[in-house]
Amino acid sequence: MSNEQPDRYGVIGYPISHSRSPIIHQLFAMQTNQPIRYDAFKVKPAELEAAISGFRRSGGQGLNVTTPHKTAVAKLVDSMTDRAQVAGAVNTLIFHENKMQGDNTDGYGLIRDLEENLDVQLADAKILILGAGGATGGIMNPLQERDPRFIVLANRTLPKAKALAAHFGNFGEVTACRFENVPVDDDYDLVINATSAGLKGEAPPYPREAVGSQTVCYDLSYALSPTPFCRWASERGARQSIMGWGMLVEQAAESFRIWRGIRPDTKPVLDQVRTSG
Ligand code: ATR
Repeated sequence: MSNEQPDRYGVIGYPISHSRSPIIHQLFAMQTNQPIRYDAFKVKPAELEAAISGFRRSGGQGLNVTTPHKTAVAKLVDSMTDRAQVAGAVNTLIFHENKMQGDNTDGYGLIRDLEENLDVQLADAKILILGAGGATGGIMNPLQERDPRFIVLANRTLPKAKALAAHFGNFGEVTACRFENVPVDDDYDLVINATSAGLKGEAPPYPREAVGSQTVCYDLSYALSPTPFCRWASERGARQSIMGWGMLVEQAAESFRIWRGIRPDTKPVLDQVRTSG
């Protein structure tokens, strides 16, 4: 690498101390010999707009956006990619000369992890998603493109699940309910936890009957020891209970590709962060 100042990127969220994005992007940068610096910024919702424009003014080249800003930031961009528009949520900001574009690499990251890394079949799958925030918006359409049998969206606040079900209903069968009303006629093939409850140490009343011995349970959250949702899923006898390390690394690789024009090899990075954080 040269002595030039590295190009600057980062992630904004609240909370943010748990974020592994800085280490992941630094590993990608070393692997591909790209001169970048990537930092995590704790940004409260009220400070979102000022934080983004401050980072841009100081020469920043792009940002990742995480909980709870993914939906709010969609209102601040000048344009959105098709996949961000369908998602209604943004996790990647690209700064052009004087315009800001929003993209969403979350769904791509999840699908790649499920299909390539974990060999999960999505065609004709019965899918239950817990949570109806920005994270859910990001994964809905990419899942629907794989032709599942149906998707049930369960959320603590029913109107938010209903709004997402209406938004995505054109692309496949989607129903909305509260946790306690999840239809459990038979087991789901895939149950995805897309709530941010675990981050706050809270445990929603996950629907016990939805999980059987054939069910793959996937938590979009991740930690070095099993998350509360993964522990719950294992106790319910799920076929597999997986934390979102793979999605995290795959969505990061896609953001990195967009910013730098080069795709890193995710496998060694995934092996490293999953075991050492
Ligand atoms: P994200 O970008 O992570 O999706 P978000 O848009 O703030 O963040 O959405 C958070 C999701 O987690 C929502 O579905 C939220 O439920 P509500 O719509 O009812 O707020 C869900 N969530 C957060 N804490 C929760 C808790 N303790 N129990 C149940 N659901 C929770």
